[in-house]
Amino acid sequence: MRDFLSSDDVSPEEQAALISRSLDMKSGKNAKSKALAGRSVGLIFEKPSTRTRIAFEAAVFELGGHSITLRADELQLDRGETLEDTGKVLSGYLAAIVVRTFGQERLEAVAEASSIPVVNALSDLEHPCQALADVMTIKEHFDDLSQVELVYLGDGNNVCHSLLLAGAKAGFGRIRAACPKGFEPIEPILDRAVAIGLETGCEITVGDDPAEAVKGAHVLYTDVWTSMGRESEQAERVKVFEDYRLDESLLDSAASGALVMHCLPAHRGQEISSEVMDGPASVVWQQAANRLPVQKALLEWLAAPRRRGQ
Ligand code: CP
Ligand code: NVA
Repeated sequence: MRDFLSSDDVSPEEQAALISRSLDMKSGKNAKSKALAGRSVGLIFEKPSTRTRIAFEAAVFELGGHSITLRADELQLDRGETLEDTGKVLSGYLAAIVVRTFGQERLEAVAEASSIPVVNALSDLEHPCQALADVMTIKEHFDDLSQVELVYLGDGNNVCHSLLLAGAKAGFGRIRAACPKGFEPIEPILDRAVAIGLETGCEITVGDDPAEAVKGAHVLYTDVWTSMGRESEQAERVKVFEDYRLDESLLDSAASGALVMHCLPAHRGQEISSEVMDGPASVVWQQAANRLPVQKALLEWLAAPRRRGQ
């Protein structure tokens, strides 16, 4: 039994296999899987979602299963039932539980108590399902990932954390994060990504000069400046991040043909200009569409029967 709480919960080989299977799911090649036939998957959302929730619901349906989506206030969680007790009970009904929540420890508590796979559908710390779709999208554009130089601009948040780990596992040539001081990725994640990169040949650096970071890059990636749950910091963040907007002038310094990525939802005019987001370099819609085949491949893999230790 496996969980997917972090981009670090799969080996580089397992990640590559998941992405290869996602590409099959997208193209339709050997993709008539009914891995969830007659089974149900629970989706618990403690934060809003458009892409993740709908891609998971569609993925469960396409795999022959039934999805049950619940907000925390529709469960007994809001009346004090613990996550652990909830996980134990749901294990009796479901093939897997997908959870979007705040602290990573909440996910770990459900996973610890559950006897079925638990998936991180975004936490404050990581967004591993997004990172799989991001690597898949980059793979659709570059034959040799070891040549890819990716720059992440902005907040060193959940999306940045998973991208660092998954990009290192994918063996990108280089990942640079350009973040304002005080908004860098947290040290344990950075250290782990650097360690993975030493094995796979991916060089990882963090700086605070966006104009310098983007020079010659093949992929420019950004995310919102204010993540869900941090709304009270928005006014201050808009000022701190002003120079990190992904606009034409930053894009002009990247390599010719560079891709622009954003996990969405975007705040046009803040972290990304509309001109860039709707321009020829942008692959944001492809990236969003890739959430469906990735979610299918992930659920298929997690729901597969496993021998102990596999
Ligand atoms: N990218 C992403 O996870 O979007 P949602 O918040 O809409 O699910
Ligand atoms: N960093 C963002 C990602 C949204 C998909 C957030 O957590 O709100």
